[in-house]
Amino acid sequence: MKPRPVSDTWPGWFIALHWVIALMLSVMIGVGIVMVAVEETAAETGDFTIKVFGFPLYQAYQLHKSVGLTLFWLIVLRLGLRLTLGLTAPSHDHSRLERFVARTVQIVLYALMLSMPLTGWLMASSSPLGLPTMWFGLVNVPHPLGPDAAREEILATLHALGGYALLAIAGLHAAAALKHHLVDRDGTLTAMLPPLRHLEKRQ
Ligand code: HEM
Repeated sequence: MKPRPVSDTWPGWFIALHWVIALMLSVMIGVGIVMVAVEETAAETGDFTIKVFGFPLYQAYQLHKSVGLTLFWLIVLRLGLRLTLGLTAPSHDHSRLERFVARTVQIVLYALMLSMPLTGWLMASSSPLGLPTMWFGLVNVPHPLGPDAAREEILATLHALGGYALLAIAGLHAAAALKHHLVDRDGTLTAMLPPLRHLEKRQ
């Protein structure tokens, strides 16, 4: 594989933000699914002392909501910086079709990533239980909508479907990066994974 100049990559902090968001999203989807399964078991058995990874249900929900809202701002920050600082992807002589597909997947990814915290927040606002959303126990996040069970149900469905769609599209995004690395043998993946660039240079 041909070594590329060091400048042919993203700034380090921008790469770090990518992986922080990817990790937090993966944890949020996994924890969200487990949290709902535990809540369903609690509703069936009447045992609401049941825990989610050691956290009481109420706390687990508050933590999920707090991390989710934090993620929203991290995603907005990354998108904002990308657009305002002109941080476009390093070019690796991709075809026009490849660039079009990559761009489309990225737009869908951003739309899904931003929609997840929004549907979650609106769902929590619509809950007839009227539970507050406390950001890490510090800030009482306002709920813009009043209680409405039917609306809550619709938003819960959108939130769940969004989670699965996000998993699918992120999988596609990761598969494409691997294809660039293993088949095309270009620097698309290593631009996002600087430790692998050293391996690449030794080949
Ligand atoms: C990127 C951020 C987020 C991701 C990836 C995410 C993901 C998920 C997932 C996968 C579930 C399980 C859905 C199911 O299986 O039915 C879930 C449940 C839930 N999420 Fe989120 N979520 C995010 C942000 C939020 C936010 C910001 C809130 C509220 C402020 C929130 C509130 C909830 C609630 C209340 C549930 C339980 C729904 C139910 O009981 O049916 N989420 N989340």
